[in-house]
Amino acid sequence: MELNNIEEIASYIVSDGKGILAADESNPTCGKRFDTIGVENIESNRRDYREMLFRASGLKDNIGGVILFDETLRQNAKDGTPLIDIMNAAGALPGIKVDKGLIPISDGSDEVITQGLDGLNDRLKEYVAIGAKFTKWRAVIKIGNDMPSDQCIDGNADALAEYAKLAQNNGLVPIVEPEILMDGDHTIDQSFNASSRALASLFNSLKAKGVNLKGVLLKPSMVTPGSEATLKASVEDVANMTLKSLKENVPAEVPGITFLSGGQTEIEATQHLDAMNKIGGFSWKLSFSFGRALQAGALKAWSGDSGNAFIAQDILSHRAKMNNLAAQGDWIIDLEEEF
Ligand code: 13P
Repeated sequence: MELNNIEEIASYIVSDGKGILAADESNPTCGKRFDTIGVENIESNRRDYREMLFRASGLKDNIGGVILFDETLRQNAKDGTPLIDIMNAAGALPGIKVDKGLIPISDGSDEVITQGLDGLNDRLKEYVAIGAKFTKWRAVIKIGNDMPSDQCIDGNADALAEYAKLAQNNGLVPIVEPEILMDGDHTIDQSFNASSRALASLFNSLKAKGVNLKGVLLKPSMVTPGSEATLKASVEDVANMTLKSLKENVPAEVPGITFLSGGQTEIEATQHLDAMNKIGGFSWKLSFSFGRALQAGALKAWSGDSGNAFIAQDILSHRAKMNNLAAQGDWIIDLEEEF
């Protein structure tokens, strides 16, 4: 597979229903996931878990890229094979999370801005040398009293654009992720407004910095009510409002939009993605970059026991295939019941 530039890499990752496996949990976040299955959060366990995921047969044809944390990009499997060789052999390109976490946007504020621009250029050069093909930077936007503020939206958009330009200068595809958190009791309309403001500001900043939009992937949240909202939304409402927000704000040159799952269940995330692709009427590929909605079942089945690897890998392979179908609008719920 010869991919010669960022535009080809970005298009490949979302080709033929492929999407992204987000496995870039920081060590503390990995610890939270391991707590749910009673596994100790040590390097060898993190290695065994990720090795199990990356050896699942369903990566091939369904997953175009895997986002990694720094430790994993450098890690070898138990038999000494670099983990990135395992995913490359399955046609899944290695990517790397490069942001460095969140700090309050100003003293005492509940809103946050993403850190990590200091020294980023040097880190990107090292990641290229190791074999990364793309990168991720996540901004976090909260909905609540007077939130999100313009300061939060525009400050994070500027940082995303600065990062994206540096990534492209180093030959890496930047994934730009303005995550609107599901936490809270906000309505789907509030989520729509926050999403639309964040996307408008992001594309303004990307254009102002001269970022090549054909060599970018957007990783947004779906437009949903807050996780504690009393009024739930139908699959159709989520699909229609998410598409409206995207169509009004995302330029046609962007090759792919790969959603985060953000706390949706595995089936909900697949169902929403499929519904949007069944509606259609857009030029970008609409695909997935799920963390929890790809891994939750596999994590539970594995539970730290190598004897469970096959069943855990079957579960991940199934989810990868279901999301591949959803990215083409070809998923049906019966396929879940057969599994
Ligand atoms: P979730 O799909 O679990 O939200 O994770 C995706 C991700 O990479 C968040 O940054």
